[in-house]
This record gives sequence, C-alpha cells and structure tokens, in this order.
Amino acid sequence: MFDKDNVKFIDLPKFQDLRGNLSFIEECKHIPFKIERVYWIYDVPGGQIRCGHAFKQQQEFIVALSGSFDVLVNDSMETQSFSLNRSYYGLYIPAGLWRQMKNFSTNSLALILSSTHYNSDDYIFEYNDFLNFRKQHEK
Ligand code: TYD
Repeated sequence: MFDKDNVKFIDLPKFQDLRGNLSFIEECKHIPFKIERVYWIYDVPGGQIRCGHAFKQQQEFIVALSGSFDVLVNDSMETQSFSLNRSYYGLYIPAGLWRQMKNFSTNSLALILSSTHYNSDDYIFEYNDFLNFRKQHEK
C-alpha cells in the first residue's frame, strides 16, 4: 500500500478517428479502485505548487486532460517525478505517499479521481508528520 514502487502510469483506451480522439476510464477496470470523488485543478498561475501533502487512505488517479505538469511522489526516502502531458494515460498513486504537483503549463487541466469522499482528517499536511506516519507503518 505505502510502496512508492506501486506508483505507476496507466494507459487508457484511445479511440482515434477523423473526428478526433476519445478516451475513458472505468472504475475497478482501468484503475484499481472505486471512484468516490472527482475533482479538477485548473487556472494554476505559473510557478505555483499544489498538493504538498499525503493521504492516509485515499488513492488517486491523475490525468492531464489538457497541457502538462509534473507529479512528485516521495516515500520518505526518495522522490520520483512523473510528467503528465497527454489525456490517454494517467498516474496511479496509492495511499501513504507525499505528493506535489508543479510545473503547470498555461491552460493545463488536471483531472483527479479519488477513492474517497473529501475528508480533511485523511490529509497529512506536515512533512514531519508524514515521516512519523511512515515510521509507524513500517513493517
Ligand atoms: P487543497 O487540498 O489545498 O488543494 P491541493 O491538494 O491542490 O493543494 O484544497 C483546496 C481547498 O479545496 C481546501 O480548502 C479543501 C477544498 N477541497 C474540497 O472541499 N473538496 C475536495 O474534494 C478537495 C480536493 C478540496
């Protein structure tokens, strides 16, 4: 659950014809969880960083519906950067990992599918609290 090696890009179906492209996501099929919530991040001013936090329970799947941005994932030992810039794939992030989103291009649109309803108690906002959380959950 808390292993950053479980973070992965997932390719989505893509139907391409002369009228344009179509992609879609089905819960528990293309992504490994049931979708409880959908939110999106847009109109991000240049240089802004979002999502400096971790979730205790929540899993997410992030798609760049438009433009591009980077998602940085940290497991308390190291950070990996994942670039999202096409709407036919996304990034799956399990619970228990620190994440940031940055380098948003102009007019970028981030779609986020979440495994839980919004619950501020599920957030870990301070990095030191995240390190303690990781220690508590180490095998
Ligand atoms: P926040 O978690 O700070 O955004 P980010 O993860 O990109 O840094 O969320 C901004 C505000 O929106 C905050 O007051 C909580 C609220 N919010 C909801 O009410 N519901 C939601 O589903 C989300 C994601 C945020």
